[in-house]
Amino acid sequence: QIAILDFGSQYSHLIARRVREMNVYCELYSCKVSRSELEAHSITGIILSGGPNSVYDEGSPHVDAGVWDLVKERSIPLFGICYGMQELAHVFGGRVAPGQEREYGKATVSQKGLNNDEECAIFKGLPEEFIMWMSHGDKLHEIPTGFKKMGSTKNADMVAIQNLETKMWGVQFHPEVTHSPEGPNILKNFVVGICNSPQNWVMTDYANEFIEQVRETVGPDGHVIGAVSGGVDSTVAAVLMNKAIGHRFHAVLVDNGCLRKDEATKVLKRLREDCGIDLHCHDAADLFLGKLKGITEPEQKRKIIGGTFIEVFQIEADKIIKDAGRCDFLLQGTLYPDVIESISYKGPSACIKTHHNVGGLPASMKLKLIEPLRELFKDEVRSLGMALGIDEPSVWRHPFPGPGLAIRVLGEVTDERVKILQEADDILIQELWNFNVYRDIAQAFAVLLPVKSVGVMGDGRTYENVCSIRCVTTTDFMTAEFYRMPYDLMETISNRIINEVRGINRVCYDISSKPPATVEWE
Ligand code: XMP
Repeated sequence: QIAILDFGSQYSHLIARRVREMNVYCELYSCKVSRSELEAHSITGIILSGGPNSVYDEGSPHVDAGVWDLVKERSIPLFGICYGMQELAHVFGGRVAPGQEREYGKATVSQKGLNNDEECAIFKGLPEEFIMWMSHGDKLHEIPTGFKKMGSTKNADMVAIQNLETKMWGVQFHPEVTHSPEGPNILKNFVVGICNSPQNWVMTDYANEFIEQVRETVGPDGHVIGAVSGGVDSTVAAVLMNKAIGHRFHAVLVDNGCLRKDEATKVLKRLREDCGIDLHCHDAADLFLGKLKGITEPEQKRKIIGGTFIEVFQIEADKIIKDAGRCDFLLQGTLYPDVIESISYKGPSACIKTHHNVGGLPASMKLKLIEPLRELFKDEVRSLGMALGIDEPSVWRHPFPGPGLAIRVLGEVTDERVKILQEADDILIQELWNFNVYRDIAQAFAVLLPVKSVGVMGDGRTYENVCSIRCVTTTDFMTAEFYRMPYDLMETISNRIINEVRGINRVCYDISSKPPATVEWE
């Protein structure tokens, strides 16, 4: 396996993802992992991630001395990215200092005239100049002992270094992000070319490993409760859990009154009949809508919904404790982008929205979290779903946020407004399937705006709600673009909504990208 030592970069999991894309097994470790922990695995190579710190700051994280000994003794190839390269400089006698300018964005890396006496092994097959994504303040001022300079940019003299003897490489840029077009080749040169890592890992290995781990964690008598919404994440998580511990997994669908049209019925049927999961529906629509009465502020809505979910869970968990004698764990289908956007993670990533399914449960609940998908991106979860044999419509379903239509009915959420939105949303989804574009879009939904507009229907004046359609394309939901919807499809959707949904007389199309907008309106 490739061991990735995580120094807290936003991109550490992206490195893992790129390695998995080569069908190579990898694991993320803390940057302070001990020699003995690494030694327990068969490590083919080590990658040091980027991080928000400066290597010379007091208290900044460093690789354990024992790990350096292990690398030396076993001659394990090592690749430092950004902070990872600065760590190499710090340990092997180079000098890192703040650059005159922070470098952020695309930069041209040049190897011109640099590798006359030796080739740069991680740049094998690359052109002399290529574009890479930079994001750093510090830079290398003196090269560490035994290393050679292999690349530079306009702003930084040494952005790539190599020591063929000790098999160590460092780059200042980020080959793991999609803005670095040659990035996958660089990583492959290291992981496969240099480290010779076996390319035999498949998604089902992830499933099997998780199942084994869960059996160990939960033990022979433990019980697990899990919320299932019917989306691909919670479905995959539930199928995995069901495979791991069978009837000791208790799946609950919480109907918060803000689900899509007929959603609870459809999800119950699908999970029970197709996936063999004994899903139980807790109808809490009145409780949720009651608490949302009069609330218009988005974060407050999320907090209320998050809190009420926990309340309902508590009731369900208590039931399990009464029947089975115990309930120890909570299963959540949290994905990596949820984690990174919700938690201010060692500094660099700010909290954008409090995604309700990430973060703290009250300690009194004494449920330990199990999050099998925490390291995966959406498309990886889909591959995993297919590998597990989950039906295609479930695997390809667009994501649906935990707070549901409550964050798409802007302003106050009422039963009546939710019903109006459900109808519009249902028409939208039907037509995307009819026009065979559902799978081209990452997420599509309708939003009910808190404004009314004047219209004319028949001979009469109408004064009704405005609805906006939001369709986005993205691979990881961290950035997104609006979907270029064909005009005839727009026309069909708009005509149908205005004609069929009472209460809406105008339809708009949202053409914002993320950033600066987010996918959801609230
Ligand atoms: P944003 O609006 O943050 O959305 O750009 C990115 C993705 O996250 C989903 N989302 C949520 N999912 N609970 C969830 O489970 C939430 O509170 C939540 N908020 C946003 C959103 O639908 C999109 O897929």
